[in-house]
Amino acid sequence: MQLIDGNAIAATLVAELKARVAALPGRKPCLALVRVGEDPASVSYVRKKEKTAAEIGIESRVILPPVSISQAELEKLIDDLNADPAVDGILVQSPLPKNLDEPAAFRRIAAHKDVDGFHTLNLGKLVQEDDSGFVACTPAGIMELLARSGVDLKGKHVVVLGRSLIVGKPAALLALQKKAGANGTVTICHSGTADVAALTRLADVLIAAIGKPEFVKADMVKPGAVVIDVGINRVPDPSKKTGYKLVGDVDFDGVAPLASQITPVPGGVGPMTVCMLMRNTLKARLSAG
Ligand code: GUN
Repeated sequence: MQLIDGNAIAATLVAELKARVAALPGRKPCLALVRVGEDPASVSYVRKKEKTAAEIGIESRVILPPVSISQAELEKLIDDLNADPAVDGILVQSPLPKNLDEPAAFRRIAAHKDVDGFHTLNLGKLVQEDDSGFVACTPAGIMELLARSGVDLKGKHVVVLGRSLIVGKPAALLALQKKAGANGTVTICHSGTADVAALTRLADVLIAAIGKPEFVKADMVKPGAVVIDVGINRVPDPSKKTGYKLVGDVDFDGVAPLASQITPVPGGVGPMTVCMLMRNTLKARLSAG
């Protein structure tokens, strides 16, 4: 079994992006990060995004509206960022407080600043295999991890667990694309799937993105499979200072001995997601001229 070291691969990407940003004439790329409320995971993710941006030389603007912000006020804030020529990318951290309409907020972000890749236009471009759009960061990070770990999906059966707009659907579409490294044969499993284990056992490459702690057990995995664990679940652990530990959607200890390659949690897909956000922000800056 070989561990796919997301931290090491992300460090290489950070260095590559840093060199590209340093060589950029004119102003540095600028990413606006909007976080509403104090969801602990969101606080930590936004801090990480800010830190990685600084490391690469990307300017970040963290905007923390009060939790009492109304939908209209949030949309006005997004409109202002859309109109600001100094801002290249806009990210509204999910989840928003329940009283706000998150899909509507995402839709409000101009497609050319949608570095999250959630806008209808960018999703449409992904379906059409038009590379001019933005691809969602976690699925893009998965493809990068696979490519840099020597995994070519051509001729492989890729099973994606989960059909979310943020991970499952775009990951399946990327694996399916008719281009080098992709060309996978793709199955998507979800809550309506009759026998999930029967399908995951057929996977040469298994991508788990359902948000259920340690859902994938050893008897659901084919020996020699490549296992990509997208889950970041906080489970109570009194022995930790924080009171919780992070586990993936895969039972790592049970599955790792079977897998040919596997990502750990943390330190697998997570660091790649942040890198892809930075790559998208640089892409937005380059297309802004
Ligand atoms: N929350 C968890 N993942 C993401 C992501 O990729 N983008 C945004 N905006 N929020 C998230």
